[in-house]
Amino acid sequence: MFEQGAVGENHFLGDVQHLRVMAQTMMAVGGEPVGLLQTAMSAEIACVLRYSMIAVSADGLENEWVATECAAQAADEREHMVKLAERIKQLGGTPDYFAVGLATRHMAPEAAKGCLPRLLAENLAAERCVIELYRELSEHFASDPKTQAILDDILADEETHTSDIEDLLTTQLM
Ligand SMILES: [Fe+2]
Ligand SMILES: [Fe+2]
Repeated sequence: MFEQGAVGENHFLGDVQHLRVMAQTMMAVGGEPVGLLQTAMSAEIACVLRYSMIAVSADGLENEWVATECAAQAADEREHMVKLAERIKQLGGTPDYFAVGLATRHMAPEAAKGCLPRLLAENLAAERCVIELYRELSEHFASDPKTQAILDDILADEETHTSDIEDLLTTQLM
């Protein structure tokens, strides 16, 4: 688990990477389905917060394109969170919305003018990380087609997010 960060520190990318390592560690010893889906759900919670934060922060900075795109992505990430929560429930688990271990909450002060390219570059790295996470989980859930289909649907959205962020970085913030 992470140390509590000071206000202003940004642990978003580290949180997402940490959750992937957690999932890999769990899969290496068999991987209990509910626990594995919870790692993905926690990553989605981090993404909901992250994109919502950037959308609102960017809004006042005349980066309307970034704000609109990040708001749309935040809505997608929330849908992913709910899909995973539903599946965890169907499998007999209790979805954890508290997402213990995330240090992501202390990052709003970083969304100042001039920081957007760096924030979005981190988002891009995080999206690539969750794509790998979903690929690994999908393979792991090969014997559970219903869960695998949910993971593959989410994976397709994450691939779209990656290209959308690449577009933002190259066309809006260069
Ligand atoms: Fe997502
Ligand atoms: Fe995403």
